[in-house]
Amino acid sequence: MSDNPLLFTPLRLRNLELKNRIVVSPMATYSARDGHATDWHVQHIGKLAAGGAGLVFVEQSSVNTQGRITHGCLGIWDDAHLDGLIRLADIIHQFGAKAAIQIAHSGRKGSSQRPWEGGGPLTDADLAARGEGPWPIAASSTVPFDNGWPAPHMMSHADIDGVAEDFRAAFRRARTAGFDIAELHCAHGYLMHSFLSPLANNRNDEFGGSRDNRMRLPLRVAAIMREEWPDHLPVFARISSVDGIDIGWSIEDSVAFAREMKRVGVDVIDCSSGGMKLPRGNSLVSREPGFQVPFAERIQREADIPTVAVGLIREPDYAEAILKDGKATLIALGRELLWNPNWPAQAALQLGCDPDWSGWPAQYGWWLKRRTAQQGR
Ligand SMILES: Cc1cc2nc3c(=O)[nH]c(=O)nc-3n(C[C@H](O)[C@H](O)[C@H](O)COP(=O)(O)O)c2cc1C
Repeated sequence: MSDNPLLFTPLRLRNLELKNRIVVSPMATYSARDGHATDWHVQHIGKLAAGGAGLVFVEQSSVNTQGRITHGCLGIWDDAHLDGLIRLADIIHQFGAKAAIQIAHSGRKGSSQRPWEGGGPLTDADLAARGEGPWPIAASSTVPFDNGWPAPHMMSHADIDGVAEDFRAAFRRARTAGFDIAELHCAHGYLMHSFLSPLANNRNDEFGGSRDNRMRLPLRVAAIMREEWPDHLPVFARISSVDGIDIGWSIEDSVAFAREMKRVGVDVIDCSSGGMKLPRGNSLVSREPGFQVPFAERIQREADIPTVAVGLIREPDYAEAILKDGKATLIALGRELLWNPNWPAQAALQLGCDPDWSGWPAQYGWWLKRRTAQQGR
């Protein structure tokens, strides 16, 4: 590998400098209490920040109680959440990383069980079992997420204005808490995606029908994010680049959306995919290493906006090649970091750009350098 891996070359976005191009992808841990961060979050985020990534995302945080996915979702709907969020931004900064937070509303996928409790819609049985009952959900239309899921309330214009203002208040709180970057969650079938995708949106007013109409609310909220975020700091949007192989929201739609996002001041598009229940089993994008990289590449090239590549990226050499080939500007990892939070520090050693272990916290690096000298790895 080259002497100066791009993966470990600092990156400037607006006036914010990231020490490297590795991103801890937003990962919900469903471990909040009434939306408040707990000790779980502090150790989880602290461990990931200590591992050496340049940018660490705090998981999707709900703009109101209705917009939670589960009872355990992190919240940013109340000033009382600030103390916990400040601790998270702080611990990220202590390790020299920059702090990002994803701001979200679950839409028609709200009122759910945690994945390990079944991941289905909450019922009175959950209320009896754990005191966690269902709540009414709202989305672009009344189309349920799947068979057996409740039909959401179709948001009125007053509801739409209300949720846009909830997003505004959430972005303000995120900044007050000390985050450097806010990301608007437009992916994975949640509220914003339920407006974008023709599979979920069958409105016939100015928020439905044509692509321009379906993009209207996400663009309005993105503009609010930009208004509320300081000019010198960047904002991101995460999108589902496609709903499936040949169905629903397409990569051409994403390129058009990314151009509009750029126009309202979004700096980076975080390129995920999926999250819609598809009517056919054979329309899902197959899950192979780097399966979403082609989306990041095309959006970066055709919409002329930096992208994040994410999804089954595990090998440092591969991450480096994605950057070198100009397919993305940042590399995000999720599950690989749950498996090995020190992936960034280990990747730096492997790519030959941290010969003296300076990328590690001294409390670990001093010992591990000697362990390696003695044991050869
Ligand atoms: C435990 C877990 C929680 C996740 N929560 C979120 C989330 O809050 N917001 C989001 O946009 N994606 C979420 N994701 C998706 C990840 O950010 C990432 O895009 C996905 O896991 C693919 O990357 P990977 O193959 O490196 O894990 C989650 C994934 C995992 C494994």
